[in-house]
Amino acid sequence: MIEVNLVAGALPERGTVVVGVAVPTRLGRAATSLDQTSGGRLSKALAAAGPLKHGKVIDLLLPEGLPHERVLLLGIGKPEGLKRLDREELGAGLAKQLQAFRVKEAVLAELGGLELGADPVTAAADIARGAGLATYAFRKYQRPEPDEETRFEQLTLQLEEAPDDRYLAAIEATLGGVARARDLVTEPANVLYPESFAKRCLELEKLGIEVRIMSPAELERLGMGAILAVGQGSVRPPYVVVMRWQGNADEKPVALVGKGVCFDTGGISLKPAAGMEEMKWDMGGAAAVVGAMHSLAARKAEAHVVGIIGLVENMPSGNAIRPGDVITSMAGKSIEVINTDAEGRLVLADLVHYTKEELKPRAMIDLATLTGAVIVALGHENGGLFATDDDLATTLLAAAEETGEGLWRLPLGKPYSKHIKSQIADIKNVGRGREAGASAGAVFIQEFVGDIPWAHLDIAGVTWSSRDLPLAPKGATGFGVRLLDETVRRMTEAKKAEA
Ligand code: BES
Ligand code: MN
Ligand code: ZN
Repeated sequence: MIEVNLVAGALPERGTVVVGVAVPTRLGRAATSLDQTSGGRLSKALAAAGPLKHGKVIDLLLPEGLPHERVLLLGIGKPEGLKRLDREELGAGLAKQLQAFRVKEAVLAELGGLELGADPVTAAADIARGAGLATYAFRKYQRPEPDEETRFEQLTLQLEEAPDDRYLAAIEATLGGVARARDLVTEPANVLYPESFAKRCLELEKLGIEVRIMSPAELERLGMGAILAVGQGSVRPPYVVVMRWQGNADEKPVALVGKGVCFDTGGISLKPAAGMEEMKWDMGGAAAVVGAMHSLAARKAEAHVVGIIGLVENMPSGNAIRPGDVITSMAGKSIEVINTDAEGRLVLADLVHYTKEELKPRAMIDLATLTGAVIVALGHENGGLFATDDDLATTLLAAAEETGEGLWRLPLGKPYSKHIKSQIADIKNVGRGREAGASAGAVFIQEFVGDIPWAHLDIAGVTWSSRDLPLAPKGATGFGVRLLDETVRRMTEAKKAEA
């Protein structure tokens, strides 16, 4: 991801400058003054090209003798109704263009005099955030790095006045959290397995997050029979990590709970070979929780948040659980394991129970790449939202709308709970075949939630993208990081501001 810088006051007198242009053709303050100093070159180019639509760019090389060798005119489009996501996508498109033009560094001139649906300072931050999100790349295993020569590296925001100290930190917080989640999701399972994932969480300590790693022996002591059962087929034992950001001491925490199956072979109910490599990203829920904790701490959110992730590898072996086995969860409920590939809900059963008993949160949000069924229902356009609490659901849906990390609510309820009745145990880990598979997974987890307001996000369809997206190159999306950050903001900080 790019580096974002700030300069307050006048435009630096060199390099590549980006200026916004509205439709019908209108230059902002910065563009107007550049137009004057360049003998009207900007307005001439625009007159020749016609109205510059939203996201379109004109690349102008200026003659020698002028302070700036290159000016990019960025189309803002019509002034009405631009939202945060539109501004982010504008920044994303800009960054991709700069990349294509082989520009390594650019200055975004202040946006005063343009109508962007937000004040010029907020708009610049949104554009920078979008540029950062879209230029993420995972280059760890390729030498030379594939785009070493051409990549866009640095965006400087020129603002009329210096904003407050937290301005840049907030942009970096989002970009850092999303990059961390994408990195974790992209890592292969031979590198990122339960123990190594847990160790990486210690990196969060330098942001002021308290990190506690629970060893396999500790999980045994606690009686986390469900997560241990999933892990028993692997030579790499399970770990649980609890992270706490105490940005506000006097409130109960919001709990974020993540499924961290570092590789899901299906176990004895083995998955088919084709596409199985994708199951390295079956820890996308855990990655989103870690990324969100990073973002919250890096921007010093005034909120109390705990993150908890269950890290485990689902493997077939002589030691693995078998279909038909009955196991006992930490809550004491017995579970008949009909299909060893429905392992995520087993992991969450113990996590959610532990969270309720030990962390005593005011609300609980779990994220899990839980079911293929949610992809059948919603495709890759939205994650599935299940909630016992309408306020929590409303907040999550609003945050989803704002961040573009889409959610669509799906049902819980007694009729679905019947799907997981077992003949010989308290419950079984699958429902009725292809019927309402995502709801069957959700009601299974619900068995362990108690009365704490709870939401479950089934993110199986949105953690990974086989296509480039506006704000993410194909691969790991980092889904959930911005959504959770915004949700926490709405649940805690925004409420406080009202009071
Ligand atoms: N990790 C998978 C779900 C998944 C599938 C995520 C495809 C991403 C893409 C999960 O552990 C799983 O295998 N679920 C089973 C449940 C079934 C056996 C009840 C599924 O969806 O097939
Ligand atoms: Mn599975
Ligand atoms: Zn899984």
